Amino acid sequence: MSQFPKDFLWGGATAANQLEGAYNEGGKGWSTADMVKFVPREVSQGRNTETVTYEEALEIIHHQHDDEYYPKRWGVDFYHHFKEDIALMAEMGFKCFRMSISWPRIFPHGDDLEPNEEGLKFYDDVFDECLKYGIEPLVTLSHYEMPLHLSLEYNGWENRKCIDFFVNYAKTVFKRYQKKVKYWIPFNEINMSLHLPYTGGGIFVEKSNNELQTIFQALHHQFIASALTTQLAKQINPQFQMGSMLGLSLYYPKSNAPEDIIAAQTANRINYFFLDVLSKGKYPTYFYAYLKKNQIQIHIEENDLKIIKENTVDFNSFSYYYSLCTSANPKNEDSLVAFIPESEVIDEFHPRKVRNKNLQVTDWGFQIDPIGLRIAINEIWDRYQKPIIISENGLGTYDTLTTDKKIHDDYRIQYLREHIQQMKLCIEEGIPVIGYTSWGCIDIVSAGTSERTKRYGYIYVDCDDYGHGTMQRYKKDSFYWYQKVIASQGEDLD
Ligand code: BG6
Repeated sequence: MSQFPKDFLWGGATAANQLEGAYNEGGKGWSTADMVKFVPREVSQGRNTETVTYEEALEIIHHQHDDEYYPKRWGVDFYHHFKEDIALMAEMGFKCFRMSISWPRIFPHGDDLEPNEEGLKFYDDVFDECLKYGIEPLVTLSHYEMPLHLSLEYNGWENRKCIDFFVNYAKTVFKRYQKKVKYWIPFNEINMSLHLPYTGGGIFVEKSNNELQTIFQALHHQFIASALTTQLAKQINPQFQMGSMLGLSLYYPKSNAPEDIIAAQTANRINYFFLDVLSKGKYPTYFYAYLKKNQIQIHIEENDLKIIKENTVDFNSFSYYYSLCTSANPKNEDSLVAFIPESEVIDEFHPRKVRNKNLQVTDWGFQIDPIGLRIAINEIWDRYQKPIIISENGLGTYDTLTTDKKIHDDYRIQYLREHIQQMKLCIEEGIPVIGYTSWGCIDIVSAGTSERTKRYGYIYVDCDDYGHGTMQRYKKDSFYWYQKVIASQGEDLD
């Protein structure tokens, strides 16, 4: 008998800005993600290249830049291939497909009075295609993008007006898809505005004279938007299930010195800070102490805390790729280059990441740690006692297409197998993990570096970093492996 529940949501995950392409088709407006240009690896050294300044964005939209390449505008052309792609997911046996709606495809400027019917129709078609195969869509409303106009005119989530724009967008799609979609996540990796304010919150930090204050104000607005969206969802369809989504950073102490242990605990509280608000419905006490210490004053209106308190999520979800490590004396340590760049600010909200020599590290600085997934699930269950979905997990690396059009990705199978085994141990101990959607089930553009050759998929897409290729889809060895995993309900992981 399988340990996984019968209705376990096996599947894969993607995001519109990395997948869809067709950036200027179907009435879509400019997205913040459309502004991110490709920086070759020799220059970026694999570091995150997502941030765009206000001046750059203006320059990009007002002038033709034929010499630049913007991969997120093209994705892997799911917009024109979605039937074929969903059929492949169905062939693997997917029960669930996590995807996001592109906000500027529905509201091209974000503050438009009427939605774009062509955009709405596109997602109708996508959801119908999923449902045809019995695949449950799990839909993120904002995954690392928002209408560019909201960034340029309002400085993104720094402005409270974005709450209304977002809730209006949510209302439009909730009503439209209420019979097709049950699982919703308002924000992907809600903690991202803290690390990458442009990506997470559409914020141009150079416009602010107090960066941390701007960031925490924006986060407060996102928390209210998330709570109001949850409230609205229940009014429209009480069956809707609303989730949090956290980019999980699990920190270990560098040593067993108490100083290192408190440093790691402090770093881990950053994770919990976000789930405390979304899942418990309140800011943790140390947050107020942090604001005071850093002379940050955020504007909280009378009803805000009540709204947050009364509209918590139904399930928690998180992405998990690696574990991290920190110490009390981080400046002397061997720093780790992860896809989140080292912030200039080193404080309890921006801890230094140091290398954990017990773990292997990928070319992108991801420390591979399957047991860390179990630790993370245990922690999140113990703290919040709500069902859990692992909404992202996977290995991003180079693959080779052989001359006979095969991809032998045993390294990916090993990574996934070891993580699923750890998840299974949690389920055996009675933790309600209800779904697992591995990241980039089909190869897509990398969020952090805009590379296409950093691949996560079970399905290979023939396209390189510069957009050269046929866009043809090929099944990797991991495709057949995952098919077997799903068919055996997680029993056959060989
Ligand atoms: C997650 C994001 O943080 O990590 C995804 O939600 C992203 O959008 C994924 O793609 C992997 O990161 P990267 O940089 O390898 O694409």
